[in-house]
Amino acid sequence: MSTSFIAITTSDPLHGSVNLVGAKNAVLVIMASLILTKGKNTLTNVPFSEDVLHMMRLLQSLGAHIEQDRDNRTLVIDTSDLQPAQIGADIMKKMRASILVMGPLLARFGMADIAMPGGCVLGARPIDFHLKAFKKMGTRYTQHDDSLMAEGTLKAVEHVLEYPSVGATENIMMASVLTEGKTRIVNAALEPEVLDLIEALRQMGAQITIEPPASIRIEGVATLQPIQHQILYDRLEAGTLLLAAAITGGEIELPDAPVHSMEVFLSKLEEMGHEITRGVDGKGVRLKATKNPQAVSFKTMPYPGFPTDLQAPMMAALCLASGKSIIHETVFENRLVHVRELQKMGAQISVKGQTATIVGVDELYGASVIATDIRAGAALVIAGLVAQGNTSMTGVHHLKRGYDELVPKLASLGGKIKMVEE
Ligand code: EPZ
Repeated sequence: MSTSFIAITTSDPLHGSVNLVGAKNAVLVIMASLILTKGKNTLTNVPFSEDVLHMMRLLQSLGAHIEQDRDNRTLVIDTSDLQPAQIGADIMKKMRASILVMGPLLARFGMADIAMPGGCVLGARPIDFHLKAFKKMGTRYTQHDDSLMAEGTLKAVEHVLEYPSVGATENIMMASVLTEGKTRIVNAALEPEVLDLIEALRQMGAQITIEPPASIRIEGVATLQPIQHQILYDRLEAGTLLLAAAITGGEIELPDAPVHSMEVFLSKLEEMGHEITRGVDGKGVRLKATKNPQAVSFKTMPYPGFPTDLQAPMMAALCLASGKSIIHETVFENRLVHVRELQKMGAQISVKGQTATIVGVDELYGASVIATDIRAGAALVIAGLVAQGNTSMTGVHHLKRGYDELVPKLASLGGKIKMVEE
């Protein structure tokens, strides 16, 4: 177990401008979708987070040839020689997004042999929606130990999702683009990252239509071509950086921020009293923090509601807001684990079920804390920037999974933060 930790000290208000990187939750699924093509694909604006490196290893285990140019944030992924192979527990359990290769493997090879992905601190993370859909498309399963072998010739059917699951929507769509006939997904997820996948699939030659209010129609085609695709900027990295500026009373600008996909979140920052200036055509955002932030309440919801992935970082900022904030987490059944760590820093938070009540305090105190998932880590980093004294955060691998350069970016804005690799 790595004994690396992040050391944070009380920082002055953050100031300046930083660029964003591509979205983790777009690049992972788009990398998986390249299994549908035979040839050399180029992805740009790629965040080189740990999960991207895991997905690279997964694709290489299937026979992909990958060239990476980190300085130019570019991946060239040649899928000409792909062969179906078993994807072992070491990869499947390390990264939930590994399940997203199942649809493309079934579409291209008519089979997928995967270890069942584990749950995580957020909850059981079941894949029943995925498996039910593939079964309806004609897939047969044989389970052996912890592995699942799926095989069959897929047929186009109508799927009604009982919940707009991001991963299930993506997996069904990727299984359908090479399946003859008309597939429909009713009650689909339409997160910006799903839309970026749709854009990439259309670039390959897929026939995909979005029908209001939230259905996706796919007309199967015979083959798909390799693509060049720029990954969309990460709204979650943007939100995390804005909250770091908000909690420190600073002023920052994010020229790449995809404002149109952040409106509910930005409206909550304005409700706290922070001044938000939106760029022209929804490109870019500036935050000027209020010195007297007010409590706000919200529920996390599927897009375009308040994103569950910004719930923990927002909770950190609300620990120092005047008044009582109520946060209800509706997407995951156990996404309040960061409360215990924030309480170690002096936050006044009580939890009942998946509802947290935060009563603002005058200050937080540095402590030794543990990141339990990607976004919990971001929340603790944000709290550490204003806590009196020193904070050290372990569980750094979680943060590295989801953020490419959060620590150096916060430091470039004046944050007293550094990664200590031991
Ligand atoms: C994606 O996870 C994201 N991950 C998550 O980001 C994000 O929080 C989540 O969507 C919601 O927006 C990636 O894109 C790699 P879901 P996913 O299927 O697809 C239940 C982060 O921090 N469910 O929309 O797994 C599930 O348990 C991560 O970047 C089933 O019950 O999310 C959850 O309660 C965390 N059965 C709810 O649906 C299923 O078959 C939403 O899950 C699938 C999901």
